[in-house]
Amino acid sequence: MAFRSLCASLLPSLRTTTEMVSAKALCYGNAKTAVLTRVSPAERHASVQLFGSDPEIMACAARQTAALPGVTAIDINMGCPTPKIVACGDGCALMRHPEKARAVIAAVVAAVDLPVTVKFRKGWDSAHVNCVEFAEAAEAAGAAALCVHGRTRAQLYSGRADRKCIAAVKRAVGIPVTANGDIDSPEAALRCRAATNADMYMVGRAAFGNPWLLAQIDSALRGLPPPPPPPVAERLETAREQFTQAAKDKGEKAACLEARRHLSWYLRGIPGAAYYRREASAVSTPEDISRLIARVTRDCGCDNG
Ligand SMILES: Cc1cc2nc3c(=O)[nH]c(=O)nc-3n(C[C@H](O)[C@H](O)[C@H](O)COP(=O)(O)O)c2cc1C
Repeated sequence: MAFRSLCASLLPSLRTTTEMVSAKALCYGNAKTAVLTRVSPAERHASVQLFGSDPEIMACAARQTAALPGVTAIDINMGCPTPKIVACGDGCALMRHPEKARAVIAAVVAAVDLPVTVKFRKGWDSAHVNCVEFAEAAEAAGAAALCVHGRTRAQLYSGRADRKCIAAVKRAVGIPVTANGDIDSPEAALRCRAATNADMYMVGRAAFGNPWLLAQIDSALRGLPPPPPPPVAERLETAREQFTQAAKDKGEKAACLEARRHLSWYLRGIPGAAYYRREASAVSTPEDISRLIARVTRDCGCDNG
């Protein structure tokens, strides 16, 4: 939530989505799971993403979620490739059972007044590419918008995301389509638009440690020059802000553990990053984080901004 909040404060028009949340756990009142559905006031267009394959349980979780402050849409995950998720018939496994997927979407649509969106992949594997039929089924079931990740489940996160399948989905449905996969620069977003004609563009991994990328992409898509990346000192101060917010939100210990990965991402491209990353991967206290940020800022000769 801290990271999403930061991204949304840098680009107020941004649409954000929570990580996927188990509908079953929500329905059975799991408090740890409920925490994952919170959205921050900075997120003006915030979806909560649910996963599950039982229509009734998905409807129950959607009802609970739709009542939360700040939630403006419910997103259904039908693209997660993780073995333990698909083994339960959830995530991308639903692409193998379009009728079941349709029933889940229809149940969630009937349960809430908010728009219901669906995220899925190109298909299960190269022999089962069914994103177009799947998109048509999702639209018929009442989905308000779709997001397509241009990889099959078998590809996980490897290889290049296929844009042609997203273009085919866009041509096939009348609802807005978001393109996803390998959008890691303004140029990549423009290429993706040229290839897909999608309505929106979703950025995943490339935004880690680089929340400014979103406004750069947004500007490029609007035909404006992308704002330059911020200086190192500002980047690191932003990392600290994210950490401070995360510590308030989930406690210092959990935030420090998370900061190890996030700091490494914020350090990308900084001279000596590999060296600092070793230190980042061992931070355990807020003081460790402050010390590291102060040292990198000083070494980069940017402690006067
Ligand atoms: C560690 C990790 C966790 C992810 N968790 C989710 C998730 O909870 N929900 C979701 O829709 N996608 C999830 N994704 C997939 C991304 O949203 C995105 O579809 C994928 O990384 C491709 O986009 P990218 O190339 O911009 O990263 C996850 C990806 C990674 C690498």
